[in-house]
Order: sequence, then structure tokens, then C-alpha cells
Amino acid sequence: MSGPHAVYPGSFDPITNGHMDIVRRAARVFPRLTVAVVVNPQKRSPLFTLEERERMIRESVADLPNVRVDHFRGLLADYLKKIDADLIVKGLRVVSDFESEMSTALMNRSLSKDVDTAFMMASAEFSFVSSSLVKEVFFLGGDVSAFVPEHVLRTMELRRRSLTHAT
Ligand code: PNS
Repeated sequence: MSGPHAVYPGSFDPITNGHMDIVRRAARVFPRLTVAVVVNPQKRSPLFTLEERERMIRESVADLPNVRVDHFRGLLADYLKKIDADLIVKGLRVVSDFESEMSTALMNRSLSKDVDTAFMMASAEFSFVSSSLVKEVFFLGGDVSAFVPEHVLRTMELRRRSLTHAT
């Protein structure tokens, strides 16, 4: 398949309906889209293993033939070069996202051979949805069924059960 190959990178711990909104929008525009899971998210140790995060994404994108799922270690710019991808896709939810995304995009451009980042606006209904908030609400007993795919919710419930039994 020819045409630009876009990479949508993230921690996806776990993938949310907000992520899926961006994946679907990007898959409509770019003929090839790789959802790339960072192996070790910088922020904190992930709730789900790399394999679990990838599996949840694969299940979520099963109906999108031009989307593949992969993972990367180290710099995103190096990964793009390795797989010969053309650009990065990121989602913007609110204006405050823009500030950090702008420096990240410029750094990635500088680290790569001029690779651009395309920004897509998430639907307003997902503007407040993030994996970290979803996890916090879920573990405090809140209903997150509107914010994650159904199979992700089931995986979260299994994780909660195993964590409860472990303590
Ligand atoms: O879902 P997240 O946690 O917001 O995703 C952040 C991610 C994975 C896109 C970002 O941390 C990243 O690109 N990490 C790879 C390391 C890297 O290239 N860092 C320099 C970025 S300028």
C-alpha cells in the first residue's frame, strides 16, 4: 500500500475511547497507520504489561484494515526511521495539550530527518478522557464504561480482581 505512513505513539495504559477516536480519524486520512506503544512509559510504571496493552489495541482496531500495532523502545524519532514512517500523529484534547506537544513535535523534527507531526482534534465528548484519569476513577469505584472499549473494561476488571486478591 502506498501513500504516507503515519505513526500514532503513546503509552496506551490502557487504550481509551479518546485514543480510538484519534485512531479512527487518522485511519480515514492516512493509508497506513501504526499505533506504536512505548515500551517503558516515562511517567510511571504501567498498570498493564506491554503485551496486554498491545493486545487491547489489536482488539480495538480489528475492524480497521490499514492499522497495525507495534511497540518501540527509546526515541520515537529512531523508531520512525527504522520503520521508514513519514509522520507522527497526535491527538489534541484541550489547548493546554498544545504547549507540550509543540516542543515535542519540534524536538522530534530536529531529531529526525524533518519528520512532521500532524495534530487531530479529539471529539469534544472525549476532551477530558485520559488513561490516568480513567484508571483513577475505575480504582475508586467509578463507572468508566463510557470511556474505554468494552473488552478493555473487562481486562481492567480482571486486573482489579487480581490486585485485590494479591493484597
Ligand atoms: O501516551 P503518552 O504517555 O502521552 O505518550 C508519550 C509518548 C510515548 C508519545 C512520548 O513519551 C514519546 O514519544 N516517548 C518516546 C521517547 C522519545 O522519543 N522522547 C523524546 C520526545 S521529544
